[in-house]
Amino acid sequence: MKKYLLAIGLVVLIGACSSNNSNEKKEPATVGPAPVAAPAPVADLTANPDYKKGLVLVAKSDCLTCHKTDAKLIGPAYKDVSAKYEHTEANIELLAGKVLKGGSGVWGAIPMTPHPQLSLEDAKQIIKYIFLLNK
Ligand code: HEC
Repeated sequence: MKKYLLAIGLVVLIGACSSNNSNEKKEPATVGPAPVAAPAPVADLTANPDYKKGLVLVAKSDCLTCHKTDAKLIGPAYKDVSAKYEHTEANIELLAGKVLKGGSGVWGAIPMTPHPQLSLEDAKQIIKYIFLLNK
C-alpha cells in the first residue's frame, strides 16, 4: 500500500517534470509526504540532559535504522510519536515497554522488533528524549 502510494508519487513527480517544457497546465504534486516544517529549536534542546542522554542511547542502538526525527522511515517519525501521546509518566512506561518487547498495529502494518538488550531505564530515557521533540 505504501509502495503503491510512493509509486503514484513518483509518477506524478515524473509527469510534473516532463511537462516542464510544454504548455500543458502543471498540476502541483500533491501526493507524498508533506514538506517538513521548520526545524525544532535545537539550541534549547541540546542543553537538556534528558535530550542528550536519550540521543546517545538512540544513536548507540539500532533505532535510526527505522526511525528519523522528522520523517517517517520504516517506523513513525519521532516527532509524530511525540505529538500522538500525552507526555505523561504512564505513556513513558507504555512506550518504553513497546521498545523493549516490540510493537505493532499502531502506525501501520509493519511491526517494530523487540529490543531486549536495552534496560527499562534506558528505554524510558529514550522516550523522554522523543517527548522533547516537536515542542
Ligand atoms: C526494524 C525497524 C525498527 C527498529 C530497529 C526500531 N523501530 Fe521503533 N518502530 C518501528 C515500527 C514499524 C513502528 C510502528 C509499530 C506500530 O505500528 O505499532 C515503531 C514504533 C515505535 C514507537 C511508537 C510505538 C507506539 O506504539 O506508538 C516508538 C516510541 C519507537 N518505535 C521507538 C524505537 C526506539 C527507541 C528504537 C531503538 C531502541 C526503535 N524504535 C527501533 C520500527 C522500528
